[in-house]
Amino acid sequence: MVALRSVVVGCGSSLPARVVTNDDLARRVETSDAWIVQRTGIRQRHLADETETTSVLGIRACRAALEDARLGPEDIDLVICATSTPDHTFPSTATQIQAGLGIHQGAAFDLQAVCAGFVYGVATADKFLTTGSARRALVVGAETFSRILDWEDRTTCVLFGDGAGAIVLEARESAGTRDDRGVLNASLRSDGRHRDKLYVDGGPGSTGTTGHLRMTGKEVFRFAVGSVTDVIADAFRLSGTSAEELDWFVPHQANRRIIEASADKLGIAREKVVLTVDRHGNTSAASIPLALDVARKDGRIRDGDLVMIEAIGGGFTWGAALIRW
Ligand SMILES: CC(C)(COP(=O)(O)OP(=O)(O)OC[C@H]1O[C@@H](n2cnc3c(N)ncnc32)[C@H](O)[C@@H]1OP(=O)(O)O)[C@@H](O)C(=O)NCCC(=O)NCCS
Repeated sequence: MVALRSVVVGCGSSLPARVVTNDDLARRVETSDAWIVQRTGIRQRHLADETETTSVLGIRACRAALEDARLGPEDIDLVICATSTPDHTFPSTATQIQAGLGIHQGAAFDLQAVCAGFVYGVATADKFLTTGSARRALVVGAETFSRILDWEDRTTCVLFGDGAGAIVLEARESAGTRDDRGVLNASLRSDGRHRDKLYVDGGPGSTGTTGHLRMTGKEVFRFAVGSVTDVIADAFRLSGTSAEELDWFVPHQANRRIIEASADKLGIAREKVVLTVDRHGNTSAASIPLALDVARKDGRIRDGDLVMIEAIGGGFTWGAALIRW
């Protein structure tokens, strides 16, 4: 049977030039490199300067993805930007990225699922592409979390970084088997009862301010390891694949211990796990496309590989997608 599949045809990323190490942070709050590395695996993060807004980083990442795909602005008819740190309340960051790239056709919108935003973005773009509503989509995760951190709060400010990553998805005719390239499936979940474990204490419709990130780290940790593996199990079941067949596991990069515990629980070998949290910190919706770009550029991810992306974020929101690269 001939069906449409959303095939990854390019990826790119962008990181601010400024690198901040754990030792740099230890001069600002009561913390240490040893504590941060032991609890999270993070050694450094990139932080944006005042000129580097989310759309600036997003435009750079998308430009790199378009170059990688050998495509131009005229080829894209959908831009989805996953972000929790938009330049402005409106217009959407996606429209600013669209304009910055010189794309004047199709639709562009932001998608808000916090750290799960990129997986939500891939799942959403896949629906547009496989139903024939769009032909080629840029899915970008772009964040400047440094702007919503409480820099006096050592329990959160050491965890996050800034950056952006993007992929180009193209609708292609496919025989539709699990061996054919493209997004095989995506499973999304959310449960708003967990709001108070990870949230921002402000917003345009409540305080009229941007607010700061607040988190009960232990509760998030417990949920991330204990519950979110359901979507990964779903992805394997729906595609008829298994952990043994997986080539690369590219999870949201929040914490090395969460990632390794989840991989162990699912029977995914440690050497198949792509880890960038040491270099990037938690860049929220940008973390997966940043990691995909690293593993693609260093030669690990090759065409035809089976790649699982997975994330959990505030809400809680969570999801997984299985991609034949
Ligand atoms: C945040 C996290 C690293 C904290 O690790 P933890 O082992 O749960 O640590 P706790 O919160 O119990 O704190 C342990 C101690 O370290 C202290 N501490 C917290 N942050 C610290 C820091 N940056 N430096 C040094 N000490 C710190 C605490 O105050 C506490 O001290 P106390 O025992 O005297 O009260 C961990 O809970 C975590 O990673 N959670 C998931 C967070 C996450 O991934 N969020 C994003 C999801 S998208």
